[in-house]
Amino acid sequence: MTDAPARSFRDVLRDIPTRPTEMPPLRAADAPADPLRLLRRWLEEESERQTPVAHAFALATVSPTGIPQVRTVILKDLDDAVWFATPSTSAKGQAISNTPIAEASFYWASTGRQMRLRGFVEAAPREVSKADFTARHPKARAGVIIGRQGLERDDPAEVERLYDEALATVEKNPDQVPEEWTAYCLIPDHVDVVQLRPASDGERIDYSRPGKSAAWTVRDLWP
Ligand SMILES: Cc1cc2nc3c(=O)[nH]c(=O)nc-3n(C[C@H](O)[C@H](O)[C@H](O)COP(=O)(O)O)c2cc1C
Repeated sequence: MTDAPARSFRDVLRDIPTRPTEMPPLRAADAPADPLRLLRRWLEEESERQTPVAHAFALATVSPTGIPQVRTVILKDLDDAVWFATPSTSAKGQAISNTPIAEASFYWASTGRQMRLRGFVEAAPREVSKADFTARHPKARAGVIIGRQGLERDDPAEVERLYDEALATVEKNPDQVPEEWTAYCLIPDHVDVVQLRPASDGERIDYSRPGKSAAWTVRDLWP
């Protein structure tokens, strides 16, 4: 009897389904003239489906030394811009203050959809950042009050004590907003949309506009 050949890791990867079975169709000819309306519609659909963390996206920035950096953040709002919030002192905050350009990439596995939005990033007026912070869950506010994002944690035992202290601060001063908490808006001038299809690579639509108030140009791309 011969041993069954060992499964390579490549086989393990090949066994992962590359797309869901049900994918809504999308054609460039039927796509909305404004990609932000399409993003809103897709998020409403994911919300109806109760897709966990469907409002999270990968945010890519460029560090002051030109290194790409990407991490996940939560979409806070959507109008003619993509809103997110983070401390201005974080790596992404510093990257944005040095090079105020970023790309947001959403991907929803259950519908085979991807949308990337690139453009200039602006810090919101202080009042907007304050309102964002005070709307956060007390535990999330406590985390920001502790600060130290990205710094080494020398003593894990310290974590609980610092959280308790920060939570007590939040309860005592519910209007306190750390100076560094900042709402940012990414105003896209370039949007790339992919909708996978069951039997092909799917559809890819490219949107671009020369400025915030200009109309979008739509192009149908090979995926
Ligand atoms: C699902 C998810 C959502 C997140 N949302 C945020 C967010 O809205 N704002 C934020 O500052 N960090 C958020 N984070 C943490 C960031 O991904 C990142 O680890 C942190 O902000 C430090 O990033 P930086 O050092 O590149 O600035 C989130 C992480 C995950 C996994």
